[in-house]
Amino acid sequence: METDIERILFHAAAIQARVDELAAEITRDYAGKELTVVAVLTGALMFTADLLRRIPLPLKLDCVSVASYHGGTETSGEVQFDQISLPDIEGRHVLVVDDILDSGLTLDAITRKFYQHCGPQSVRLCTLLSKRRVRIKDVEAQYIGFEIEDEFVVGYGMDYQERYRNLPFVGVLKPQRTQEEI
Ligand code: IMP
Ligand code: MG
Repeated sequence: METDIERILFHAAAIQARVDELAAEITRDYAGKELTVVAVLTGALMFTADLLRRIPLPLKLDCVSVASYHGGTETSGEVQFDQISLPDIEGRHVLVVDDILDSGLTLDAITRKFYQHCGPQSVRLCTLLSKRRVRIKDVEAQYIGFEIEDEFVVGYGMDYQERYRNLPFVGVLKPQRTQEEI
């Protein structure tokens, strides 16, 4: 699996150090507020687990499951919600946690859906990574771990065709791995 990686962008220790900083910031900002963290499955699983264990606030945790990629490396442009019920976040301050901000379609769709149907007091966004690119939807995350160039990455929760999520680091796949069926 590791031999499929061309370049490591962030080693495990660097990720953990940055997660420490983000958690401290979030803890300061949400002290005394009714916070619900909503993790975007599946990519945000590792990040959310590490982040939340460093936030000593009486928060609630929920998840949403959306799909926009359908297995390739380009977004399909359509965001589907997989579950029937949305999180119970009425009147809550919501922090949506995702692995990566790319086109912006996913986090834009989630933010809209929450404001339209769930009555949150506020919705803010936290992503481990943010790609430097022109977004299809102009969304901004208030908490960002690292900015990266516009290239396809895997590891620490992020996949290519459901593989590589369990790598402890974030890396760029060798180009041939995204062209052949693996
Ligand atoms: P967006 O809707 O284009 O912003 O994409 C967000 C979602 O696409 C993320 O939650 C990831 O699941 C997936 N994604 C975007 N870029 C990458 C990548 O480089 N590697 C793995 N997954 C990605
Ligand atoms: Mg995702």
